[in-house]
Amino acid sequence: MNVLRTLTVLFFIMFLGCSSSGDDAPQGPIVGGPSDDIDPGSTDDGSNPDSGDPFLYNATQDLKDVADFPIGNIVSASKLASTSTENETFKGILNAEYNSITAENDMKMANMFTGQDTYDFSDGDAIVAYAKENGFRVHGHALIWHQSIPNWLNSFAGTDEEFEAQIEGYVKATVAHFAEAKDTGGNPIVTSWDVVNEYFDGSSVRSTLFSQRMGNDYHKKVFQWAREADPDVKLFYNDYNIAGEVGKRNAIIGMVNDFQTNGIPIDGIGMQMHLNHDWPTSDLPTAIQDISDTGLLVHVSELDVKVNYGDDITELTEERAAAQEVQFQRVGYYYTTIVPAAQQYGLTLWGFRDRDSWLYDGGSEWPLLYDNDFDTKIAHRGLVAGLNGENPE
Ligand code: XIL
Repeated sequence: MNVLRTLTVLFFIMFLGCSSSGDDAPQGPIVGGPSDDIDPGSTDDGSNPDSGDPFLYNATQDLKDVADFPIGNIVSASKLASTSTENETFKGILNAEYNSITAENDMKMANMFTGQDTYDFSDGDAIVAYAKENGFRVHGHALIWHQSIPNWLNSFAGTDEEFEAQIEGYVKATVAHFAEAKDTGGNPIVTSWDVVNEYFDGSSVRSTLFSQRMGNDYHKKVFQWAREADPDVKLFYNDYNIAGEVGKRNAIIGMVNDFQTNGIPIDGIGMQMHLNHDWPTSDLPTAIQDISDTGLLVHVSELDVKVNYGDDITELTEERAAAQEVQFQRVGYYYTTIVPAAQQYGLTLWGFRDRDSWLYDGGSEWPLLYDNDFDTKIAHRGLVAGLNGENPE
């Protein structure tokens, strides 16, 4: 049965023409991937797959049924709690197509580390409760990221030793807290964490509050604290442009070697995969191969594909949509065929409708699998084909 199509039809019948804005899309710095400075525009033409719209297709397979590994997407506690028509539609698609979830922002430090030795896990707990009820695993994201630092910590007046004690306390308390959540079979729901996100800036260590306060080896301590708090949870290093920036990739591989030589725990690499329709090209399979060759788990952790990074179109064109379809197919294909099954941690999309994307920028970017009416774009067809092992080249 075509679940998406049924949901879409229901949506149209019940709320013809209704379109509300993203309810809780947080505003924040945009990082990851080449820069994108885009003028506002509009794309929602109200079309549907029946009209022969060249940008859409009638999906016949749900993503999680095609792949042999988990397929994820992002959630927020507020969207999961909402019973608005659009959020019920979102949850219908989430439950049909996905079996892994990542909190887009709710499990980041800025949201959970509310003051000295003080934590608020309520949003993450709500996400975990939804996962338990609906059979999802939760990928924890992200313990340490320079773009998600609470204000009080940024201006923390204590000594460097006191700063480090705060970070140690936060990491251990957070990992230990979410380790307690178990499904009905007694298995953990939060199976993994992005422990450190974007430690590198190119091939160098990024200068951040953490490196300044704790030294450039802070990442090693954080991985060790996470392991002390939970002996079983999978520990990931996560970064962008691992495909596309050879220098950064080699720095990450060097870090993994160093960790393994020195007994620092690490289980996997998250390749964010914020791509463009025409970038990277030949480096994409090379990068997946290189990361796979570490022997660690490989997670495509934040997949989206921009089609307008040069800000040269005001409406999605058939040419760009076709290129995007191929790029999604390439990611699905190379991940499926290059990464050994035992290392395939999963593939996670970073959003549902184009308008929900962190890259949406007023309407002249279309980076995701569903249009603004939750109809499946041909990009979805590309990903399905790739996951089915159909070679895009
Ligand atoms: C983004 C969210 O999607 C935005 O809502 C937020 O304003 C900023 O963070 N790399 C990451 C993600 O690791 O956490 C980022 O998510 C996107 C880039």
